[in-house]
Amino acid sequence: MTEIIDGNAVASEIRDDLTDAIETLTDAGARPGLATVLMGDDPASQTYVNMKQRDCEEVGIESVHVDVAGDASPETLYEEIAALNDDPAVHGYIVQAPVPDHVDYREVIRRVDPAKDVDGFHPENVGRLVAGDARFRPCTPHGVQKLLESAGVDLEGKDVTIVGRSDIVGKPLANLLIQKADDGNATVTVCHSRTEDLAAKTRDADIVVAAAGAPELVDGSMIGDGAVVIDVGVNRVDADTEKGYELVGDVEFESAKEQASSITPVPGGVGPMTRAMLLYNTVKAASLQEG
Ligand code: GUN
Repeated sequence: MTEIIDGNAVASEIRDDLTDAIETLTDAGARPGLATVLMGDDPASQTYVNMKQRDCEEVGIESVHVDVAGDASPETLYEEIAALNDDPAVHGYIVQAPVPDHVDYREVIRRVDPAKDVDGFHPENVGRLVAGDARFRPCTPHGVQKLLESAGVDLEGKDVTIVGRSDIVGKPLANLLIQKADDGNATVTVCHSRTEDLAAKTRDADIVVAAAGAPELVDGSMIGDGAVVIDVGVNRVDADTEKGYELVGDVEFESAKEQASSITPVPGGVGPMTRAMLLYNTVKAASLQEG
């Protein structure tokens, strides 16, 4: 029987584990605070930001939200960032990506105080992660690691194929999984849109992580017998539903499930874990700043 890895359940355990630390910090007058910044009105981003705010409320993290008009100047966004850097009640914050085309996201990230960069995107934090001294693990890769741990997957010496080379998922996850650590020591192949024989690379893997942002790119014919499949994709595709779309992953779930020993669903797999690890990083930020 294929195990369906329940991201909602694992995320819920992580939130429970955080409540003690949040209570202790709050009792000491240092309630953890997270801010979300959204520039523009992309509907998917609005949904994500709303969910992050709701998560904070549930675990007792103070949350604030900053909206910046989509046609505002980059400097307007930089001013909001500078204010968050200076606000002692905000221990961590994220600027939701993507930002409008006239704004350079790299420059935005460079302006975030690395100590408050709970996404783990600032070059200082990327450098620390690659050096094996991460301050904040980026939320989605960290969530993937926690899901693998929860499914009892021992990565030591295993072949992992990651499909996707993004700065947010593919690159940091590859770096984490090759590290000399209990949750590392894997042999990692990173594939992308120019990979010549993607199916050969995924079929050979003990663990496949699909993070390409391409709906149902990976199907059962590309999965080796008994492999573990982690689907990071969240793609809105047109469908005859109330909302006019449905969410599908980067994996064709039904055919991949036939091959896999365990697999994450979409929704209910990696998504809730990304959000849980943001709470984790916020608590860590608060502990470091208040400690
Ligand atoms: N957009 C999609 N994923 C993310 C994320 O993890 N952090 C931010 N800031 N924006 C995103």
